Amino acid sequence: MSVEAPAATGNMGEPHPRFDARLKVTGGARYASDMPVDNPAYAYLVTSAIARGRIVSINLGEAQNVPGVLHIMTHENTSKDVKDSKLFSDGGFSGTSIIPLQSDKVWHDGQIVAVVVAETYEAAREAGYRVKIEYEAEQPSATFESNGVQVQAAADVKKTHEDPKVGDFDGAFASAEVKVDATYFTPTQHHNPIELFTTTCAWAGDKLTVYEPSQTMYGMKNGIASQLGIEPEQVRVVSNFVGGAFGSKGSLTPRTALTAIAARRVGRPVKLVATRQQGFTIATYRAETKQRVRLGASRDGKLTALSHEGWEVTSRPDNYMVAGTDATTRMYDVANVQSKVSIVHADRNTPGFMRSPPELPYMFGLESAIDELAYALDIDPIELRRKNDTMKEPIKGLPYTSRSVMQCFDEGAKSFGWSKREPKPGSMRDGDWLVGLGCAMSCYPTQMAPSSARVRLSQNGELRVETASHEIGNGAYTVIGQIAAERLGVPYEKVSVVLGDSDYPAAPVSGGSITTASVCNCVAEACDAIRAELGINDPKGDVLAALKSRGRGAIERYAEWTPKGVPDGALAKLYSGQAMPTGGTKDKERIMFAFGAEFIEVRVHQRTREIRVPRIVGAFAAGRIVNPRTARSQLMGGLIWGVSSALHEATEIDKRAARYVNKDLAEYLVPVNADIDQLEVFMIPEEDHEVNPLGIKGIGELGNVGTNAAVANAVYHATGKRIRDLPIRLETLLA
Ligand code: MOS
Repeated sequence: MSVEAPAATGNMGEPHPRFDARLKVTGGARYASDMPVDNPAYAYLVTSAIARGRIVSINLGEAQNVPGVLHIMTHENTSKDVKDSKLFSDGGFSGTSIIPLQSDKVWHDGQIVAVVVAETYEAAREAGYRVKIEYEAEQPSATFESNGVQVQAAADVKKTHEDPKVGDFDGAFASAEVKVDATYFTPTQHHNPIELFTTTCAWAGDKLTVYEPSQTMYGMKNGIASQLGIEPEQVRVVSNFVGGAFGSKGSLTPRTALTAIAARRVGRPVKLVATRQQGFTIATYRAETKQRVRLGASRDGKLTALSHEGWEVTSRPDNYMVAGTDATTRMYDVANVQSKVSIVHADRNTPGFMRSPPELPYMFGLESAIDELAYALDIDPIELRRKNDTMKEPIKGLPYTSRSVMQCFDEGAKSFGWSKREPKPGSMRDGDWLVGLGCAMSCYPTQMAPSSARVRLSQNGELRVETASHEIGNGAYTVIGQIAAERLGVPYEKVSVVLGDSDYPAAPVSGGSITTASVCNCVAEACDAIRAELGINDPKGDVLAALKSRGRGAIERYAEWTPKGVPDGALAKLYSGQAMPTGGTKDKERIMFAFGAEFIEVRVHQRTREIRVPRIVGAFAAGRIVNPRTARSQLMGGLIWGVSSALHEATEIDKRAARYVNKDLAEYLVPVNADIDQLEVFMIPEEDHEVNPLGIKGIGELGNVGTNAAVANAVYHATGKRIRDLPIRLETLLA
């Protein structure tokens, strides 16, 4: 694995170093909880010890006697202060509709049941442990198959949900020459960003400033205002850097309003840093899924029938779902398709976005089943994909704006040495190690949302870009600056980009890999407006010289950009905190996806069944790559996370108590350096003139889709054992 940045090829931009790299390694980057506030008090959360039931009594006597304690919030003194907040998918802002301290009801284990505010963190924490709560507990339902869960069809709970379907699946499957019918399981997973879930709130009169790591400045600003019953104009949200989010910081959280209320009550700023353990239950997570995939094909490998059914766990009150069949039913040329998604309500916190929320679990099902079909047909898995490749999605017959998936397979296969693979399972060995080679397709919908930005060019040559978008490790500062520099012909070093502050023009939630494609197009538009005003329409013309010759000090333009296909009023919605992404499968005339092909070598020890991954190759095509250095980092991180999803990660649930048990970084397994050996990322130049003016497809989530299937497929090739339940463990292979 080279440490050099990849050179730009084709239509790629320059591999500029990350704008924030030095700030981050020198400690210069200030995260939300680093922001200095005057004379802060510290909050500590008390969380429920049961998963279902109610609070009978709370005794605060001992806690209040801890020196330094200023105030303790419980439902008994707070229930009227926090207003309801709807789930974002129901038109609200929240990642959960479970609002703590509203009543005595307990919806899930680890729910916030009290907040202690004290002079020091230590005092707040000690008092937190001295809050005595008596519960009336009921038997909770933990997950699939638990007594008391409630199963609902997605189509019955969500008006806009569609289960993609075309042709006659039952007939085609019944008469298929070769069939696969298999059920797959993916586990509960928690994001665990290294930056913990923190909130700092400071009031100045009736104006509130919230410092909270977030992927949604305007969602937070509007959401917190509605929960506190104040005007959005009274709220400023600041989050200049985010130390990992992956979806977990993409919506209004239950802790924010509580921290704001605490700060108002004690009359000084309040800082809250939740513990790692609390992060498992006060934030969101990836819910476990169960999926049944059926494939029918002709003897020569043409797919004739595809059925994908999924079940996903959610909380009791919320209808959160990821519904990955939206993508999996559209990846291959197949005439008869059916699908169905169901949600399973259990006594759990509400799940939420986690990097590639729909595709990571659902492409595991599809791409495992495709591999199973390849073996059943005795056809090379890449050739099977080639035979069923398509430039039109099968459900509505819409054309792909571009789709370079087979180029990815071919380039990746060449570098990986796929041609040296002996097809028969268990046929490749190296001493005591069984060698397995596997591959899978990766995909991610290309989505965009309305954005706004302000660009200012000054006569000293400095270029400033302002937008309330987010640096979540995605390289947003860097790529936004690059586009502005390029568009106005200004050196990149002269550009400053400011993000993560709701005082700047509104940008959409940094989720769904939409940031680069949305914000960069908007910034380009603002730059073009500056050019136009200066009358320099030739892209090589000297904009700065024109500014000076007009005797002007600076020129500033504000732009609003909307992608094709968003409804009217989308920009007003953006400012009121609701991003309305379009693209992917939502466009009426075309379908937009980025693609990739991923190759994994595993070695499985023939006696112990220890699994190693010596080689990973990923080849990706995602339209215009703005910065091949930051893009490669994203894709590399995705691939490593994909391996993690296959071999390491699972949140274990005590089914009797509906409680997560491995709630820390020691017991929640993720790969370390020693788990990842050689890793190669290829970016295939791809031009797409339809997705958006700059031809950008988002890549933030592409890299970790399909990797889990590639690993499972490689394990099958090594051992002849098909593992359909993640993560793949020694004991399963030994069984
Ligand atoms: Mo991402 S899981 O869409 O924040």
